[in-house]
Amino acid sequence: MTGAPELVFPLADAHALDPDARFRGLRDEGPVRVRLPFGSAAWLVSSYEHVRTVLGDRRFSRADSLGADEPRVVPMPQRANLILNHDEPEHSRLRGLVAAAFTRPGVRRLEAVTEAFVAGLLDRLSAQGPPGDLVSAVAAPLPALVMAELLGVPGESREEFVELTGSLLATALARQTAEQTKAAGLRLWEGLGDLVRERRRSPGTGLVADLVRGGVSDEEAVALCATVVIAGHDATTMQLGNFCYQLLTAPRQYDRLVADPGLIENAVEELMRFSPLGISTAFPRRVTEDVELGGALLREGDYVVVALTAANRDGEVFDRPDELELTRRPNPHLGFGYGLHRCLGAQLALLQLRVVLHALVTRFPGLALAVPVADVRWSPGLLARSAESLPVRW
Ligand code: HEM
Repeated sequence: MTGAPELVFPLADAHALDPDARFRGLRDEGPVRVRLPFGSAAWLVSSYEHVRTVLGDRRFSRADSLGADEPRVVPMPQRANLILNHDEPEHSRLRGLVAAAFTRPGVRRLEAVTEAFVAGLLDRLSAQGPPGDLVSAVAAPLPALVMAELLGVPGESREEFVELTGSLLATALARQTAEQTKAAGLRLWEGLGDLVRERRRSPGTGLVADLVRGGVSDEEAVALCATVVIAGHDATTMQLGNFCYQLLTAPRQYDRLVADPGLIENAVEELMRFSPLGISTAFPRRVTEDVELGGALLREGDYVVVALTAANRDGEVFDRPDELELTRRPNPHLGFGYGLHRCLGAQLALLQLRVVLHALVTRFPGLALAVPVADVRWSPGLLARSAESLPVRW
């Protein structure tokens, strides 16, 4: 393969949350060569079937992708010791250490406290408005509050924890210097280290206490907690904002949930299918042996990126794929990925999304955007596509 490919990924022509129209053709075309802003060229895979193959087949490796020149949207290659960056068997060993906390029953234990956090955030919002900003009032702080509860961060340290994780959000990254981000990352790492040592001295409740009790080393416990914080916060914040945007810009859809909150569980799955997250790609994989896929020969050593957004709009799998249909069922979307690395925190994210939508439709049935749709500001940068703020009235 010679010469740099013409097509640049992520495709950047999309408006608001609409996927780039070029995906329609790309899905039929099969894998195509693309270049990302940094690193090696890659194959872009867009159809549902091919995306599932790449994410579900061990011949596409995450660990091998972490070489010096992984295709990426940021200048620095990342080599962190995250669950996501391992293949089997190390992947399962690491994931197994934290998995119990993230099962549906494990997460159910956080339901009441999540409802209380949301009620508190909405009390504050309604005391200060209308209007108010759903992103800064709810979407940004909620995942950090829930995460603090999950980890067992003590009450007196929670405010700092929420502030620190907030400065690692993609929207914050775009506004601050690399030094500021690095400093926030280091403080978070140190804070988690303090928490692990504290739980060794006086075991309490939460994931950190469980890890310590389970015989995990301090270093590994910190790395696992940091993984969960980094992987979980940003995505949930973005989707909380994006889901509200989708429902409010198609007002009949918000009204449907007001009329029937029982629809929310199903609606959240459909919004997950329909709403692109960030650049909506899973992390690159590297081919470990030659594979033929959709007429293309992917050679050992090639990199592959997948377009989850495109797969989630594939008409071969979803009827009327470009319509948001809140009652859609079944809905085998790939919004949380697929296969070995399917999102560990999916149940936790779904819980927060459900609780927020439920509280909004029951408390603010007349909720509406407080600005014209065209004035909603989208976060800059290639990593994230989410509303920077969502001014609403009620
Ligand atoms: C709406 C919110 C979320 C979305 C859309 C999302 C999406 C994803 C996707 C697409 C992947 C697969 C990446 C790949 O295969 O390359 C993933 C993996 C992962 N997610 Fe999430 N995520 C969300 C929330 C969370 C939360 C709340 C947590 C934890 C508290 C979390 C932790 C993780 C972890 C640890 C992985 C790696 C799993 C593994 O390698 O086995 N995510 N997520």
